[in-house]
Amino acid sequence: VRRVRTHHLREMKQRGEKFAMLTAYEQYAAQTFDEAGIPVLLVGDSASNNVFGNETSLPVTVDELIPLVRAVTRSAHRALVVADLPFGSYQASPEQAFHTAVRFMKEANAHAVKLEGGTEMLPQVRKLTESGIPVMAHIGFTPQSEHTLGGYRVQGRGDAGTALVDSARALEEAGAFAVVMEMVPGDLAAQVTKQLTIPTIGIGAGPACDGQVLVWQDAFGLRTGRMARFVKQYADLHGVLRDAARAYADDVAAGTFPGPEHTF
Ligand code: KIV
Ligand code: NA
Repeated sequence: VRRVRTHHLREMKQRGEKFAMLTAYEQYAAQTFDEAGIPVLLVGDSASNNVFGNETSLPVTVDELIPLVRAVTRSAHRALVVADLPFGSYQASPEQAFHTAVRFMKEANAHAVKLEGGTEMLPQVRKLTESGIPVMAHIGFTPQSEHTLGGYRVQGRGDAGTALVDSARALEEAGAFAVVMEMVPGDLAAQVTKQLTIPTIGIGAGPACDGQVLVWQDAFGLRTGRMARFVKQYADLHGVLRDAARAYADDVAAGTFPGPEHTF
């Protein structure tokens, strides 16, 4: 199988073919989504709240994410695997971003990295792309900045829309190969998508984006509780696993497992 490359995504945009991206944090999700033909897998810093049990994405570290990225790159044979740079590992300087990204490339075989931010991140995006590291940008609502943004809120409303369009264009100019837009009005996302030659990938950014991304535990119902409005639930994995665990426990309690066929 041929590996998906950043130019394939750009070509899909030119052909008007929309694509799906999912998060993945370990072997079986990576294998399964790869088998399903998902062309881009993101080892998100959302592992912080979807793997490590934190309440936000802020606490997760590079050392925690690297083994997850390694598991996903070992397991997905076709998908482009993007490693999220966690909070505090790239904002200080282009050099810091470079050293962190190199760790993901060398220690975990990542194919690209993603970082959050607009024009303030242009030096980082330039440094990485000039060094041979493909960069996916992430604008709009950026969870690592939730404390300055004042919580989960739609970004780019009103006058802020112009600044968002400008930052997307600047990120493309600086070398980003794609831009994630999170929680921005659909018409603004459509405008950005039209103005860029690189693909836009939306999460809560409406249907005009070239791609869409969701956290898999949200989309497939492994996580329960309050979901953002932009999540569509395609399965109830929580229910499937809970019922399987109960059936197993009931069998053990009743003495019906293991049966003779499971016994040496
Ligand atoms: O960490 C993550 O899962 C993300 C996507 C939702 C874009 O950044
Ligand atoms: Na993220």
